Amino acid sequence: SDVPQSVRGTLIVVEGLDKAGKSTQCARLVENLQKRGRKVHHLRFPDRTTPIGKMINSYLKGESQLDDHAIHLLFSANRWEVASNVRSAINAGIDVVIDRYYYSGVVYSAAKDIPNLTVEWASWPEIGLPRCDICLFLSISTEEAGKRGGYGSEKYELREMQDRVRTLFGELVNNNQEDFVVIDAGKTAEEVENCILEGVSACLQRVSDGATLREVT
Ligand code: TMP
Ligand code: MG
Repeated sequence: SDVPQSVRGTLIVVEGLDKAGKSTQCARLVENLQKRGRKVHHLRFPDRTTPIGKMINSYLKGESQLDDHAIHLLFSANRWEVASNVRSAINAGIDVVIDRYYYSGVVYSAAKDIPNLTVEWASWPEIGLPRCDICLFLSISTEEAGKRGGYGSEKYELREMQDRVRTLFGELVNNNQEDFVVIDAGKTAEEVENCILEGVSACLQRVSDGATLREVT
């Protein structure tokens, strides 16, 4: 018929190390999508506003201690508690832009180097979550991150940890190439914004051509 099919929304994730510019770029991406007349929801993980998010926040600030497995499962639960909302939004034709998602979940926990807390162990609780249509990985060198004012005082903002996170992210990107677009986050904010838009435009096209929303496997 001549009536256009209503198209689902697109699940877009932005990942990267601390100082890569994720927050700025997520905000710009949301604005750019809205300018194109799209409806967009903007989420970030951890979502520190929920009861689980408050436990995570207190852990990250060093105000409470938790077993490494326990905090891992809380980060995952923090995603599961909104998973059905994400799915509903997508089905209702709303794009969802997420600042960190299950990739951060896997990488940061596995980077702690706890004997049984492997990438495989860390990946299990994420199975079944709505899988992103695209993950924009903002890649930044240690040197560039350092120039941007170094790290803050939260739990994982330590050089050694960040170096392991960088290595593990690299492996994850290589093993999931169909999901990732790697972006040089050392460029100016405008250049990064344009690279992101290019990747996202291609993804929006795939979705409007009928790509279905998948699950994490
Ligand atoms: P934020 O700086 O983006 O608020 O994230 C806080 C920290 O939490 C950051 O060091 C990455 C880490 N993190 C995890 O360890 N597991 C997760 O699942 C997520 C989303 C973040
Ligand atoms: Mg941070």
